[in-house]
Amino acid sequence: MKRRFYAIVSGLSFFAATQLYAQSAPSKNWFRQSVSVIEQQLKGAAATFTPGLNPRSVNPNGTVRTAPYTDWTTGFFPGSLWYGYELTGNKDLATSARKFTLALDSIRYVTKTHDLGFMLYCSYGNAWRITGDKMYLPVLEDGAQHLYQRFSPKTGVIRSWDFGDWKFPVIIDNMMNLEYLYWAGTQFKKPVYSQVANTHALTTMKHHFRKDYSSYHVVDYDPVTGKVRGKETHQGLADESAWARGQAWGLYGYIMCYNNSGDARFLQQAQHIARFIMTHPRMPKNKIPVWDFDAHNALDADGRAPRDASAAAVIACGLLDLSTKVKDGKIYADYAEDILEALSSPDFLAAPGDNHYFLLKHSVGAFLYNSEIDTPLNYADYYYLEALKKYAALKKIALPLQ
Ligand code: GLY
Repeated sequence: MKRRFYAIVSGLSFFAATQLYAQSAPSKNWFRQSVSVIEQQLKGAAATFTPGLNPRSVNPNGTVRTAPYTDWTTGFFPGSLWYGYELTGNKDLATSARKFTLALDSIRYVTKTHDLGFMLYCSYGNAWRITGDKMYLPVLEDGAQHLYQRFSPKTGVIRSWDFGDWKFPVIIDNMMNLEYLYWAGTQFKKPVYSQVANTHALTTMKHHFRKDYSSYHVVDYDPVTGKVRGKETHQGLADESAWARGQAWGLYGYIMCYNNSGDARFLQQAQHIARFIMTHPRMPKNKIPVWDFDAHNALDADGRAPRDASAAAVIACGLLDLSTKVKDGKIYADYAEDILEALSSPDFLAAPGDNHYFLLKHSVGAFLYNSEIDTPLNYADYYYLEALKKYAALKKIALPLQ
């Protein structure tokens, strides 16, 4: 009953929001020009890389770091090809997307990570959504089962990692993998998957967030008592800092959970996180954050605090979704539009043929590990494409672009 109520409210507010500021297709050149660059880059990448060894980032020596099927980022390149196909209508991209997706079928046997959502839902999930070809389903079914099995009723969360000294580590990034569980719960008639996704999101809401709605990166639970053992960072600047991509994962995660559950608590949480991000005094003018909101004093070898385009792209996705769910949605849509314009400028978007065929420049993987600093990242590209698709839907730009 509660669920139905939320669904009705959500439906009404969606209708109201879209009526409020649905606009005719903008004649904005940046969108059209970006799609043209995207088509060229993705075609170049598909011709350059080998299915099963997907481009992940660029090493400091200028070579491309590739990702085997076990890597958490491996689903993003096939997913980008699928999104590229939707944006451009180029059938060659769909053919390549199929090849790069099917090369990942062994992920169905991977059990030791929570990242099965990123790995499978972005690749096989998009393949299924776009083609409706049932051959993609068995891998998706196995992967979802393995993700579900990582849930503990004692802690109320899905375990993220199996490495390290933690006992039951959960990272804010884990919110992203819930989308796969929600979808699989419906697709494979396993309502327990959606229940677990809801429980994970509620537990995370309780333990991962500070009073200002910024989030910790890692919360470690005691698997026996279910109690929190510690809160810290792994990829941020400090335990108490606000790692930019972590804030982005949280924002995207909670609006996605609202979309899937209709639980208004998730919508409120997304609004709180959005406020933290959008009003942050250290958010740069172009709205592409430094890799950690507290990292203004942590400079790289050239004395700069590098920006993280991947965080910006994920924030844009989250804000675009949020904009369609609330009355004051325009502030979120406008902010996301500014991000997308910045990412589509030559400062961030590659020139055709450059950047090893990645789309975006200037992201950060793990600064304090001296890993992937100021480099292209395949997930920055994936969420940039997803944000462009969401933007097109909001602005009623017909896809594929003609
Ligand atoms: N999920 C790992 C990262 O965001 O870098």
